[in-house]
Amino acid sequence: MGFQKIKSSRSLRLTLRFVIPLIVVMTLLAFLVVPLVDKLTLRWSVRDLDMRSKLITSTFQEPLGDLLVQGSSKKINSLIARLTQDERLYALGYCDGQGKLLYHTSTFPKDVGCSLPNSPLHESPALVRLPQGLVHVAVNPVSIDGVPTGSLVLVHDMSYVERRSSETRKYILILFAILCLVTSLITVLVAHLSWRGWMTGVRALLRGEGLIKPFAKSSNSELQPLVGDLRALLRTIDSERRIADDVTSSWNPDALRDLLYKQLAGEQILVVSNREPYIHMKGKDGIEIHRPASGLVTAVEPVMRACSGIWIAHGGGTADYDVVDKKDHVRVPPEHPDYTLRRIWLSQEEEKGYYYGFANEGLWPLCHIAHVRPIFRTSDWQQYVAINQRFADAVIREAERDDPVVLVQDYHFALLPEMLRKAMPKATIITFWHIPWPNPESFGICPWREELLQGMLGSTILGFHTPFHCKNFLETVDRYLETRVEHASSTISHGGNLTLVEAYPISIQWPPPWQESQPCIADCRAYVRSTLNIQDHCLIGLGVDRLDYTKGILERLRAVECLLENHPDMIGRFCFVQIAAPSRSVLEEYQAFDARVRALASQINLRFASPGYLPVQLKIEHHEPEEVNRYYRAADVCMVTSLHDGMNLVAKEYVAARDDEEGVLVLSRFTGAAHELYEALIVNPYHIEQTADALYQALTMPAFEQQARMRSMRSMVRDFNVYRWAARMLLDAARIRQRGKLANRIGMQL
Ligand code: G6P
Repeated sequence: MGFQKIKSSRSLRLTLRFVIPLIVVMTLLAFLVVPLVDKLTLRWSVRDLDMRSKLITSTFQEPLGDLLVQGSSKKINSLIARLTQDERLYALGYCDGQGKLLYHTSTFPKDVGCSLPNSPLHESPALVRLPQGLVHVAVNPVSIDGVPTGSLVLVHDMSYVERRSSETRKYILILFAILCLVTSLITVLVAHLSWRGWMTGVRALLRGEGLIKPFAKSSNSELQPLVGDLRALLRTIDSERRIADDVTSSWNPDALRDLLYKQLAGEQILVVSNREPYIHMKGKDGIEIHRPASGLVTAVEPVMRACSGIWIAHGGGTADYDVVDKKDHVRVPPEHPDYTLRRIWLSQEEEKGYYYGFANEGLWPLCHIAHVRPIFRTSDWQQYVAINQRFADAVIREAERDDPVVLVQDYHFALLPEMLRKAMPKATIITFWHIPWPNPESFGICPWREELLQGMLGSTILGFHTPFHCKNFLETVDRYLETRVEHASSTISHGGNLTLVEAYPISIQWPPPWQESQPCIADCRAYVRSTLNIQDHCLIGLGVDRLDYTKGILERLRAVECLLENHPDMIGRFCFVQIAAPSRSVLEEYQAFDARVRALASQINLRFASPGYLPVQLKIEHHEPEEVNRYYRAADVCMVTSLHDGMNLVAKEYVAARDDEEGVLVLSRFTGAAHELYEALIVNPYHIEQTADALYQALTMPAFEQQARMRSMRSMVRDFNVYRWAARMLLDAARIRQRGKLANRIGMQL
C-alpha cells in the first residue's frame, strides 16, 4: 500500500512537472497569436473593402455620370439608395469637385465628409470609429468622359469584421486548449510508459539480467554496449566511493564492528572454512589448544572476533569432540570467548577423498603453478561433493533467518555457494578464494571444471587477492560456461543471478597481536640465539612456511648455498633458520618434499658447517604464532620465495613485527604481497643467483636504508590491514543487499 502511494505520487509529480510548463507555454502562445490574427484579419478586410469600393465606383460611374448630366436629383438619389441595399455598404455620398456633399443616403454619417479622416485608426486612414460602430470609408474619384467631376464616398460597415475577429479568437483559444490537452495526455502517457520501462530495466539490472533481457527476443543487441557502459559507470562510481572509503577511514576492530552495526545491523554472519581456528589436541598433560599455520585462519579470526558470528569448520583435533556441546558448538577464543565454533566431523575416508584427495592433490596443484601435476580421481570428487553438501546443510541449520551473510573460505568449498543459493536464495554469499586462480588452459584440465565454476557462481561476491586472478577467473568462465561475462564491470550473469568478481587483497591484524607483550628486539635476538646456539656476530636469515612445495623452500636453500659459495666471507657470519610447519604429510608429494628439503639442508651444512656453526637450521615442527613472532623480531632478513602464492601473509607478519623499523624482506615476485610491498627486495625464486645476490644485498644493507624501506612497508600493512579487507567485502555485500531489497520491493509492486 505504502509503496503504491509513493508510486502514484511519483507519477503525479512527474505529470505536473511536464504539464504545468506546457500549459504556461500554450497560454503565452495563445496571447501572442490572438492579437496577431486580429491585426491580420483587419488588414485583409480593409484591403478587400478598398477593392470592393473601387469596383462599385467603376461599375456605377457610368450610370451616375449620365444622371449627373441629366441633372436628375431624384434618379440619382434612387440610384444611391439602390446601391446601399448591399448589406455591407452602409452609406454612400457624392461630392462635387469642390468637396461639397451633393447627394447622400440618409444613413450617411455626419462625421464623414468628402475626404478621408485626419486621425487614422488602426494605422489605416480608411477606418473611422462612429457611435454605431467601426466603418470603412473610401473616397473614389468619379469622372465623366475622362473629365473628373467629383468623388464617390463609400462607407462600409465593419462590424462584421469585429464579429469575425471575435469568432476567430474564440476558435483559436479552443484550438489551443484542445492542443494543450492532447499534448498533456500524450506527455503523461509517454512519461508513464518510460518510467515503467525504466523501472523494469532497473529491476532486471538489479536482478542481474541486465536491460537486454526484455529486448533479447526482438534482437535489440545494440543495447548491449549501452548496458555495459551503464554498469561500468556504476562500477566506477562504486570504486571511486570505495577508494574514498579506503583513504578516509582507518580500520580496526572497532571500526569493523561499527560498520557491521551500521550497514549490517541485525544480520547473521556465518563463516565456513575447512581449517578451524582452534584445534583441541590430547597432550601429555591433558587437552592442549593449537593454533594452525594457515593464512586463512590468520586473516579470518580477527574478523570473527569483531563480528561474533558462527564459524563452521572441520573438527580435526584429537580432543575436538570432547569439548563441544550437543550442537557441536564450542565458544572461542578459549581465553576470551567472542564467537562460536561449530565443528563438522569427517570420517578418515571422507577426509582422504575430500581434503587430501580432491582439494589438495587436485585443486591445490591445479591453481598453483609450481609444476606439480594435479591428480583427479572420481572417488575423491564424489567425497568432495558430499562434504560440500554436509557443510551446506550445517550452514542452513545454523542460519537463524533466510538471508544470512555467509563467508565461504577457499578451494575446499567450490560447490558450496550454489548449494546454499538453492536452499537460501536470499542469502548473501561471499566466497573468498585464498589461492591463485590459473589461466583458462591450466584450469581446463580439471574433469569437473564446469561443475566447479557453476558451484562458485552461486556466490554474490567472489573475491580473489589480485585483479590478475579475477581476470583469469572471468576468462575461465567465459571459456567454459554459457554465461554473460561483463569484463568492464567484472560481473557474471547466469540463471538470473549476478556474481561480482572483485579483488580484495588479504592482510593481517594491525596493531599486530602480542605487540604489547612481546619482549624487545634485543631480548628476542638473545632468545633465538640461545635456543639455536647461534653466535652473536652471526646474521640471521629466516623462512617461515608450511612445508609445502609451492613455498619455494628448496630454491631458497639453494640461494643460501649460492650466497655462501659466492661470498665466502659470509661463512660463519650468516645462519639461515627455516621454520616449517608440517602440512598434509599424509600425501606422497609432501613426504617427498619434506625429504628433499631435509637432504638439501644437510648437504649445505655438510659443505659449510664448522664447530659451533650450522649454516642452515631446519625446524620442521609446529610453532605457536607468539613464538614465530619472536623469530621475526630476531631475524635480520626474512625470505619469502614462494613459486606461486595468493598473497603470503608471512611477508606482512614480518613487516608488522618489526616495530624497530629494521630488517629486510626478500620477496618472490610470484606472491600477491609483491604487488603491495614494493620496498622489499623483489626476486624471481627460480633464478638462484639473483636471489642469492638479493640475500647478500639484504645482509649488507645500511641501517638507514633498512629503516626507510621498512617504514614504508609498515605504513602499507597498517593502512591496508585485515579489517579493511573484511570491511571492503562486507560493505560491498551490504550495498548489494540493499539493492536486492530495493529490487524486491519494486518487483513486488510493479
Ligand atoms: C592455505 C590455504 C588455506 C589452508 C592453509 C593451510 O593458506 O589457502 O585454506 O587452510 O593453506 O593448509 P591446511 O591444509 O593445513 O589447512
